[in-house]
Amino acid sequence: MSSIFLPPPTQQIHCNITQRAGIKLSVLRLDLMHPWVNGNKWFKLKYNLLEAEEKNFSQLLTFGGAYSNHIFATAGAGKLFGLQTIGVIRGEERLPLNPTLSFAVQQGMQLVYCDRTTYRQRHTTELHAQLKERYGEVFIIPEGGSNLNGVRGCTEILPEVGDFDIVCVACGTGTTFAGILLSLTHKQRGIAFPILKNGSFLQSEIDSLLQSYLASGLPTPNNSVCTGELICDYHFGGYAKINDELLKFSQQFHQTHGIPLDYVYTAKMFYGVMDLLQKEFFSKGDRILLVHTGGLQGNLARDQSALRIEQRLQER
Ligand SMILES: Cc1ncc(COP(=O)(O)O)c(C=O)c1O
Repeated sequence: MSSIFLPPPTQQIHCNITQRAGIKLSVLRLDLMHPWVNGNKWFKLKYNLLEAEEKNFSQLLTFGGAYSNHIFATAGAGKLFGLQTIGVIRGEERLPLNPTLSFAVQQGMQLVYCDRTTYRQRHTTELHAQLKERYGEVFIIPEGGSNLNGVRGCTEILPEVGDFDIVCVACGTGTTFAGILLSLTHKQRGIAFPILKNGSFLQSEIDSLLQSYLASGLPTPNNSVCTGELICDYHFGGYAKINDELLKFSQQFHQTHGIPLDYVYTAKMFYGVMDLLQKEFFSKGDRILLVHTGGLQGNLARDQSALRIEQRLQER
């Protein structure tokens, strides 16, 4: 199953900021693993797909918003591995479909729109039972691939990567970070950057995810878990909120280092790290690894207002 994916390359970042800070900065390019199914999304899906296959399911059903990286990746994975896919989409249908949803439909995903009140029930057995009654035997993957299978996949993000002291990742639900913390040694540090406002609540979510994981008996690469740190100051107003400064930063970063960033997740984390380097948050000699978790499809699909801001910036 993994053989169609390219091993993610690690790219060094050299600039005045890294030089002044006296650190080594690298980026793990999970975004380059596959054009459709990449980033942390592949790692979160992997064991869900394997479980579905083992249990002989031929249909996957999952949940997401209209711009969801997870919907995009699940549709792509369904097509690649010969599984039917159903995407339960929050909100009403809007035509023409945006690039995320039209890609999903092209891959054969059946879209089912769901009002916001019903969508809030997406984790309940009642809604799952209703969906199974309507669509037959479906293997249900939670929104974002955020379950213990998702954590398990994310324990496999780092092991092949060379030496580093600190790993940084953008954080939505904390599933990816939980997997990463399970794969670090005690000499390493994990730092997550919540992209939601007031993201400190994620600490207890991550702790309980880790507790459930450890209690489940699923494999732990180091038989231990590292404590991680959340840095909650780089949310730019909350989920999917962007401003001129963030857009300008991602454009410049792309131009200078050849690494595109998505506005919702990776741009905020990369901005945060570059800012912290200038504030001497890290120690000289630190080898810092940034995990590029993908999500670039969202830049195409995200509302035209981002493009309008970009145009405005270019006109200045
Ligand atoms: C591109 C990207 N980066 C980071 C994340 C955050 O992952 P998590 O929800 O596991 O914290 C997501 C959401 O899954 C994502 O789509």
